[in-house]
Amino acid sequence: VNQSSEQIIINSERLKQDFEALAEIGITAGGGVHRPALSEADLQARRWFQGRALSSGLEARVDPAGNVSAYLPCAAPGAPALLLGSHLDSVPDGGRFDGALGVLAALEVLRVVKEWGITLPVNLEAIDFTDEEGTLVGLLGSSALAGRLTPNDLLSPRGGRDALLEGLDRAGLSEAGLLEARRPPAALAGYLELHIEQGPRLWRAGVQLGVVTAIVGIASYELTYTGRADHAGTTPMDERADAALGAAAFTLATRRLVTEAFPECVANVGRLALAPGAFNIVPAEARLALECRAPEAAAFERLKAALTALARTEADRFGLGLKIETLGEHAPAPLSPAAKGAIIEAAEALGLSYLPLASGAGHDAQSLAGICPAGMLFIPSVAGASHSPREFSEWVDCENGAQALLGAALRLAASL
Ligand code: GLV
Ligand code: MN
Ligand code: MN
Repeated sequence: VNQSSEQIIINSERLKQDFEALAEIGITAGGGVHRPALSEADLQARRWFQGRALSSGLEARVDPAGNVSAYLPCAAPGAPALLLGSHLDSVPDGGRFDGALGVLAALEVLRVVKEWGITLPVNLEAIDFTDEEGTLVGLLGSSALAGRLTPNDLLSPRGGRDALLEGLDRAGLSEAGLLEARRPPAALAGYLELHIEQGPRLWRAGVQLGVVTAIVGIASYELTYTGRADHAGTTPMDERADAALGAAAFTLATRRLVTEAFPECVANVGRLALAPGAFNIVPAEARLALECRAPEAAAFERLKAALTALARTEADRFGLGLKIETLGEHAPAPLSPAAKGAIIEAAEALGLSYLPLASGAGHDAQSLAGICPAGMLFIPSVAGASHSPREFSEWVDCENGAQALLGAALRLAASL
């Protein structure tokens, strides 16, 4: 086929129907979706995706990490696969677009390539990566596929070990399988992911596409402040070892530290639990779920060290014990110049405006970066809302994104 890739058009109506059908799976009262990794809803979404692959005349595959793919083989024996994809799992009560758009746009690209009879030197694979969101581990399927997953990552994951084992059991997966899911880099021609921006920059700038330059590093911790349970009515205020004070002071000080000393970075205390947890008992223990993110390696190291030191300062201030456990870490990842180039050429050929930007959200592309040419395209998120049922992108932007994904995939494939 000699058509230039701009003459090859995705089927927007078909993509939209898929998008709406998928959004019904795990739908919530506020119009979002609740599909935590390997929950019943997530498993249902994965079965639905396999069905869509088969009814589109594609192969459906599942690897030992539970990554589900639609697969379009090329004629060349032993050719590597160009992966296109994202994830079907969601955060608790999340939005309909995060992850879902990227998987469905990838599926649409495969269907169009098949229908147009385009010959490529690579196999095409539209992949749904297991547990991107970190309900269990985070970037689980993509780390496994990239060969970055270690047994240690599975011992004390973010979501707790029991939840991981239950999820694997529900899905018919195993830890051994996860650790064997690595594919040799020579089998990977590249990875492209279409995603919503999840922040307000493109939307505010009125720009149609983001060409992602790098993805933030993310570190997750559980901090436990320990004090002493005492009678809340009779213990003098200055004689208490109140674990809640350490947690509260740390939360406020974190905001100050990051705003003043790390303007490129962010940190979040996303869960705080006090024990025993009664009106009339001074808290003996406070557990915090802490996450911090930085776009670049040196700042990431400094940020982690500064937050750890800050946690200790606040423990000392209130006479508390402190335990810090690391529950997972993903390094900041610059994306591939070849992939960025393919995306920019596709955007220009389609007449779409674009902006280079770094991603503050984590993505499976960061697992693949450095292993094969990995790149990402963003489309605008209305008002920047994400990880919420308020998440929304205009359909025309979804359609443009899918068309640009197709253009970038054909260019990257041709350049290999
Ligand atoms: C995933 O979306 C994350 O950035 O936490
Ligand atoms: Mn996502
Ligand atoms: Mn997300």
